[in-house]
Amino acid sequence: VIDELPTDTAQGFDRVASLLDYPMIVVTTVAGPVVGGCLVGFHTQSSINPPRYAVWLSKANHTFRVALQADVFALHFLDEANKDLAEIFGTTTNDQVDKFDGCRWHPGPEGVPLLDGCATRSVMQKCGLVDDGGDHVCVVLEPVTCEVSGPYDPLMFSHVRDLDAGHDPNEA
Ligand SMILES: Cc1cc2nc3c(=O)[nH]c(=O)nc-3n(C[C@H](O)[C@H](O)[C@H](O)COP(=O)(O)O)c2cc1C
Repeated sequence: VIDELPTDTAQGFDRVASLLDYPMIVVTTVAGPVVGGCLVGFHTQSSINPPRYAVWLSKANHTFRVALQADVFALHFLDEANKDLAEIFGTTTNDQVDKFDGCRWHPGPEGVPLLDGCATRSVMQKCGLVDDGGDHVCVVLEPVTCEVSGPYDPLMFSHVRDLDAGHDPNEA
């Protein structure tokens, strides 16, 4: 726990983390009749052969609870033009509103929501879950389908860092 680290280490980690920038994605998922989705900054390719992609979901999020029961996920790689999607999926929670009412989408494989406004996306299958005791859990995914359409100018963390998240990870 960061509060238990020596002060120098905790401050140093905050400083290093604040230097980083990364593309933002929206992760959607489905379990039975329940759909979920949230803005995610913590994600990366995690294996080449076999191909694997990892996303980290906050234990406080509605999306995390859906993800525990889910098999299929859709990763939407947001473009600079997708700031509206970042706001909907990053600042509101399905615990309080239906964020899918606020955007255009259609059901993909197994009903996973595919956001019409973001054409650079990949549908993936869950193949692992790693809980190291932190406030986020790593979901390891295997790609099933990938779509790339036109140029991709990524919406970066630095473009949306001022948004207030719908759930604080400390709620977990
Ligand atoms: C800039 C930014 C980055 C975020 N990164 C993540 C992340 O990597 N993982 C995550 O689970 N939530 C992340 N969030 C928080 C969720 O997107 C947010 O709490 C959302 O409202 C949760 O919705 P839900 O409860 O419907 O799942 C981020 C939010 C913002 C504003």
